[in-house]
Amino acid sequence: MTTGSSPTNVPIPGGALPSATPTSAAVQAVQNMMSGAAPVAPPTGPPVSVGGPPPGVGGPPPGVGGPPPGVGGTPLHDQIAAEYVVPEGVHTGPYDSIREYIEALEATGNLVHVAEMDQDEYETTAFVYRAIEQIGYWKAPALLVDRVKINGEWIEGPLFGNAYGPWAAEALCIGVPLEEITTNHEQMYRKALDAVDKKLGFGGIPKIAPEEVERDKAPVKEVILKGDEIDLTKFAFVQTNPADAGRYMTTGSVIMLDSVLGKNVGTYRCQIKGPRQIGVNPEPGQDGWRMIMAAKQRGEKTMKCSVVMGADPMVFTASSTKLGGPFQDEMAQAGGLRGRPVQIVKSEDSDIMVPAHAEMVIEGEIPLDELLPEGPFAELYGYLGMAKDDNFFMNVTSVTHRPKPIIVNAYTGIARAYCTAPVEAGFRARFRLSVPGLVNMHILLQALGVYIVQIDKTKPGQGISAGMAASSSSGLAKVVIVVDKDVNIYRLDEVMATFGSRWQPVPGTILIKQSEGVPLDPSAPTRGLTSRIIIDATRQLPQEGGPAFNAPVTRTLLEEMAPDAFPKVDAKWDSYFTKN
Ligand SMILES: Cc1cc2nc3c(=O)[nH]c(=O)nc-3n(C[C@H](O)[C@H](O)[C@H](O)COP(=O)(O)O)c2cc1C
Repeated sequence: MTTGSSPTNVPIPGGALPSATPTSAAVQAVQNMMSGAAPVAPPTGPPVSVGGPPPGVGGPPPGVGGPPPGVGGTPLHDQIAAEYVVPEGVHTGPYDSIREYIEALEATGNLVHVAEMDQDEYETTAFVYRAIEQIGYWKAPALLVDRVKINGEWIEGPLFGNAYGPWAAEALCIGVPLEEITTNHEQMYRKALDAVDKKLGFGGIPKIAPEEVERDKAPVKEVILKGDEIDLTKFAFVQTNPADAGRYMTTGSVIMLDSVLGKNVGTYRCQIKGPRQIGVNPEPGQDGWRMIMAAKQRGEKTMKCSVVMGADPMVFTASSTKLGGPFQDEMAQAGGLRGRPVQIVKSEDSDIMVPAHAEMVIEGEIPLDELLPEGPFAELYGYLGMAKDDNFFMNVTSVTHRPKPIIVNAYTGIARAYCTAPVEAGFRARFRLSVPGLVNMHILLQALGVYIVQIDKTKPGQGISAGMAASSSSGLAKVVIVVDKDVNIYRLDEVMATFGSRWQPVPGTILIKQSEGVPLDPSAPTRGLTSRIIIDATRQLPQEGGPAFNAPVTRTLLEEMAPDAFPKVDAKWDSYFTKN
């Protein structure tokens, strides 16, 4: 169902929220960045994404508002059956197109669908912030907006945002059966991880080669635009933050083909620079960057490129992450995650193969001897990245698309942008081979830079060893927190509680003074370098300097001494909330 500007399907709890005004220091920093003045002195007040708290802060604690842990939650399928009938054809993943996925999101109550939003007033951006603050990072629904006001003009979308935010949505993408999709998002994430586990072979995600289809079987070829017919400004590509340099394709899977290095698919933001020109932003060191630089060094003048918008969820996940080593075939990885091949079709102007069921493909050439300014852009930590003087760009030669192509916008630094279960399940499987006692791990995207590792500790030193392994696994792992197996790593309140109750800063902490970091980390004094901390918040054994006697956990005592208490409350759960 679609309404005017009021959302349908998902009740939004809570009332009016305080508004916030930018601090002058923050505004000054933004102005400096927009004028390209760099480096910018870090603002001393709140982040320049001013107003709200940093991502993930300020909303209700995870898990609050939903059913308690361990309670299954009402299957949405049953809940909505009274009002709606799940439409014919709606199914769980794998999905060939994001259209099928959006139908399933809507049928399971994980989508807010509105007729229009005014992006000149940054309405979609503020909505995504508020949805996360009010409903929670893992529960906030996806957003579908039929038309969007951009630069004073109403542009037909749809625009699709927070596309992979809710954990139930992730479970759908991975293929958890529709009738098992519930409002218990934590349980949904665990099911998504288990579903990926079942697909993993010894070498990680098995590869299934893509399958070429004829053009007439490729919906992405339904509309073909060439030369002057192309005007990218007519599509619902939005400026997400007022401090951004302009409108962006934030979710383009950039595909390049190189005679030596092979093929690469990577999600890199692409600024709309004109009707037929876009920026292409692989950061230094990325596979796409290495490919362009290699071609340039060989003396080539241009690099052909196809940018895919709205690929199916598994292609987009493979494009956005490093599931395998460098220059692995992302289409084959996506096929492995899907359990069946991705259907591909040849680009108009090159031999680059693109997903046949995508929403849109923008084709063109990247000149290798020319660069243009790009940015600033509100980046993944929730802070404004610096403007760049010199960046790659592409001259567009062809655009192919479905009728009314859906434009997926990532609300970078605000919401989750892709399915994380394939990454975390892959990590977990690899670490289990090398980290004794590893139970689980979780990378906090809403608090970027923080990894949580859970172990079943049996020997002294295991906490620190596990922490060191996780710390050295990624530039992102600036803070690693190691917890015991009885701590729920998806409940940040439980993880934080171990700081007070189990962790002793000495000896449970290791500081690493300098190592490779993520260049976008706004706290790094030198771009690309970071210090790190490992916090061993497991119970310390006497050999580690811990107490001779470990006090029992009172919740565990309740479970052991009154085993019927939780089952009784769970059984009566709904009745507590029913008015007599
Ligand atoms: C929404 C979104 C936007 C991204 N934007 C960029 C970007 O502009 N530049 C970049 O280097 N990486 C970006 N990334 C991260 C890369 O997609 C990711 O590191 C991927 O593994 C790159 O592919 P590659 O390993 O083949 O280079 C983005 C990821 C997402 C999910």
